[in-house]
Amino acid sequence: MDSKMTTLDSDALVFFGATGDLAYKQIFPALYAMVRRDGLNIPIIGMARPGWTVEKLTQRARESVEHSVDFEPGCFAKLAALLRYVGGDYTDPATFKELRKVLGSAARPIHYLAIPPSMFGPVVQGLAKSGCAEGARVVVEKPFGRDLPTAQALDRTLHEVFPEQSIFRIDHYLGKEAVQNLLYFRFANSFLEPIWNRQYIRNIQITMAETFGVQGRGAFYEEVGAVRDVVQNHLLQVIALLAMDAPVGHETQAMQAEKLRLFRAMRPVRPDEVVRGQFRGYRSEKGVAPDSRVETFAALRLHIDTWRWADVPFYIRAGKCLPLTTTEVMVNLKAPPLAVFDAAGLTPSNYFRFRLSPEVVISAGALVKHTGEGMHGEPVELTARHHVPGEKSPYERLLGDAIHGDTSLFTQDESVEAAWRVVDPLLKGDLPVTEYEPGTWGPPSSADIMVDGATWHDPQVEASSPC
Ligand code: BG6
Repeated sequence: MDSKMTTLDSDALVFFGATGDLAYKQIFPALYAMVRRDGLNIPIIGMARPGWTVEKLTQRARESVEHSVDFEPGCFAKLAALLRYVGGDYTDPATFKELRKVLGSAARPIHYLAIPPSMFGPVVQGLAKSGCAEGARVVVEKPFGRDLPTAQALDRTLHEVFPEQSIFRIDHYLGKEAVQNLLYFRFANSFLEPIWNRQYIRNIQITMAETFGVQGRGAFYEEVGAVRDVVQNHLLQVIALLAMDAPVGHETQAMQAEKLRLFRAMRPVRPDEVVRGQFRGYRSEKGVAPDSRVETFAALRLHIDTWRWADVPFYIRAGKCLPLTTTEVMVNLKAPPLAVFDAAGLTPSNYFRFRLSPEVVISAGALVKHTGEGMHGEPVELTARHHVPGEKSPYERLLGDAIHGDTSLFTQDESVEAAWRVVDPLLKGDLPVTEYEPGTWGPPSSADIMVDGATWHDPQVEASSPC
């Protein structure tokens, strides 16, 4: 065991789906970074269909990481030395018997299921029957179900073998530095709390925009759509961090408990509170039905039924083929009660803007007076930027946390189920879907869900820091 490891740490990592896309794009780079940065030194066992060899798997791992800026052959050699391979059918007990053999003396393995949810059942049972689940943890990837009933079924499958505290559900948004900063900024500063409520906040908006389409993932996207792909998970998680109360105590459970309370206070979204869009050209994508009604854009209005947030609309917007790739939160404050000076035309006046990607920016919007005669003003932003080169990727951070047994950045069964309750009404009916031009902010009708004269804040290309 590595000297930095503790007795709570997992002593072997098994990952199912080792030859898949996720392994190539995210898991190998994360493992490489963990070897390089933290000296990860536990056996890493790739599970996949038969016909591969450890040499072939090592070659694939190499291809996955060798173009990274920090590639060092010596570090890769260390990772390669940890790699093992077990091939076999996930429904065949012999596959798991072989895994148990390869695990050797490992007593606390962690199993990462980077495989379709339909395979979770057979794999979890295979692990249990072979003894590979003893003392083990399990990491699962989104999607956690397609709706509330399927999420509950998935949880039942996992709970048959693993207790909740040994289950790590990855939502990679929670591993992002900027998302953690949101929480930090809220609770490490005293000036926010007095105004962070319905008395001062007019509305909160979050836009997750991507310039690209479905990038060859048409068949996957047909099963999912924007609401399932990013709203139910990433964006509701961000809302939870923005809106939750401060945790009572320092334990992980305290944070989870507050988040859960918040999720439970989210009112299920009504069909008339959503606008679904589809970019022109989506139906010609490979794997997409010519008459598809799947949404590549969704805008919705959410309400949170607590004393803090009653009547404050939360607007969420996510889409493919939009003008910019960025995720940005705007917290719009109410106007001053009376206009002492001429502030006509200067809206929005006060706000907090959190740019979560690609840059990390926190800024406060204010009005200041123009120099010269007359009490006229202009909008300015007080801005904090944050960029640390070589920052951990969300997968590196989350996998590391899972190996150390730290559940704080993972989602729990009850929160996931509560989040499904919020969007379920949008998934059942055959709601209308409106075509939009690629490169626009979605269907213009997305403005129809705004109330009290509010308008969408369209994120702009971020001005770079002054030199
Ligand atoms: C994934 C979605 O979970 O998140 C993708 O499946 C989306 O459709 C991606 O593009 C965005 O993540 P990030 O970290 O690139 O903002």
